[in-house]
Amino acid sequence: MRKKIVVGNWKMNNSVAESVQLATEVVEALGEGFSGCEVGIAPTYLALDATEKVIAGSEVQLVAQNCHYENDGAFTGEVSARMILAVGCSSVIIGHSERRQYFGETNATVNLRVKKALSEGLKVILCVGETLAERESGVMETVISSQVREGLEGISDISAIVIAYEPVWAIGTGKTASSAQAEEVHLFIRTLITELYGQSAAEKVRIQYGGSVKPSNAVELFAMPNIDGGLIGGAALNAEDFVAIVKAASL
Ligand code: 13P
Repeated sequence: MRKKIVVGNWKMNNSVAESVQLATEVVEALGEGFSGCEVGIAPTYLALDATEKVIAGSEVQLVAQNCHYENDGAFTGEVSARMILAVGCSSVIIGHSERRQYFGETNATVNLRVKKALSEGLKVILCVGETLAERESGVMETVISSQVREGLEGISDISAIVIAYEPVWAIGTGKTASSAQAEEVHLFIRTLITELYGQSAAEKVRIQYGGSVKPSNAVELFAMPNIDGGLIGGAALNAEDFVAIVKAASL
């Protein structure tokens, strides 16, 4: 049985003070000793350090929204895996569609980041997902297959990897993939992982769904056999909604 994992991706929202406030509310709303599922929050880089102090001692894990594939050097505006590890992150989101869409990340650069994060001892949430145009033109499976294959190129052990399926057309749009639509792609990804890494690894790997997850649709999504939790954007900015989603993953 895979333990579900719910992570709040706060994206470019919240000042340091607001992040501390929201993290405090999340920890309080979850309550002590919560163990229903794995929970993480991903504030901006700027707020990682202060947020870590709030969640220390709780079940909530600190997650970064990205990291670079070099340790240091002339990479203005970037932050390395070592740096996020040093402030207490246990995981990092890599290859989010917003990084691919607005900041030119490709399967190749995503792969470099995944490898570096793993080699430094971080767990990785590898994001994949098709655009509406790709879905409608019938290339969805080809796109997702390349994102998974190329994103994992050269990686022999995926035990520290979670895959997040986030259809681009469902992110921030209020349009959730139906639970059946999401399940179909999750099954496709798990089958692909079976092909690449064998059945035992595929049975263990968690595949999160992301895209307009809310308290009202979380229970149905998380009830699907291949949906192992969620990567939550907008709804993670409200502690009550986020914790309701976490609890939906703990049923
Ligand atoms: P929304 O939940 O706002 O659609 O965002 C999903 C997402 O991109 C999480 O990484």
